[in-house]
Amino acid sequence: MPIKSRIRTVPHYPKQGVMFRDITTLLKDPVGFRVTINELVNRYTGVRIDRVAGIEARGFIVGSALAYQLGVGFVPIRKKGKLPSETVGHDYELEYGTDRIEIHVDAVSQGERVLLVDDLIATGGTAEAACKLIESMGGKIVECCFVIDLPDLGGRGRLEKHGHKVFALCEFE
Ligand code: PRP
Ligand code: HPA
Repeated sequence: MPIKSRIRTVPHYPKQGVMFRDITTLLKDPVGFRVTINELVNRYTGVRIDRVAGIEARGFIVGSALAYQLGVGFVPIRKKGKLPSETVGHDYELEYGTDRIEIHVDAVSQGERVLLVDDLIATGGTAEAACKLIESMGGKIVECCFVIDLPDLGGRGRLEKHGHKVFALCEFE
């Protein structure tokens, strides 16, 4: 069962010209959801991982299921102002303007090995900012893991340039 075939493409969302790759159709399918998580569990079983860090919002869904199956803790990386305790943050560029992601200061400790998870990598700006946050806390990025890579947007190369490993279950041109 190819994962890719269960991902819906929504033309012109959130704006004209964008082909939005929508994983809700994959997640609502019990086989699709299970196969997605199982493929990641198989990849990371036996790898030393202390934490899974998931990026808001869809990275929470994939990341928490994966962390549960791997038997490791899950930590959320959120958009600004959403986390209740003390945070560290990192600003990153969007197409227009900037955004900020944050993590709790006690979410990752010095030397911990962190698997970063999100649904999709496009330009890589969000994941790059997340890696910087984790590394600023002394965490080591084991790999950056996605359901979908949009290779035309160059995110993989951007992360690899910083020495990070990148894995995606499928690609959309
Ligand atoms: C999407 C996606 C990634 C990010 C990828 O999130 O889930 O987090 O964009 O883009 P990039 O590689 O160009 O940084 P979105 O900004 O739609 O936020 P949401 O999950 O909170 O809706
Ligand atoms: N789907 C989900 N998130 C995204 C996309 C997409 O196609 N493009 C940029 N962020």
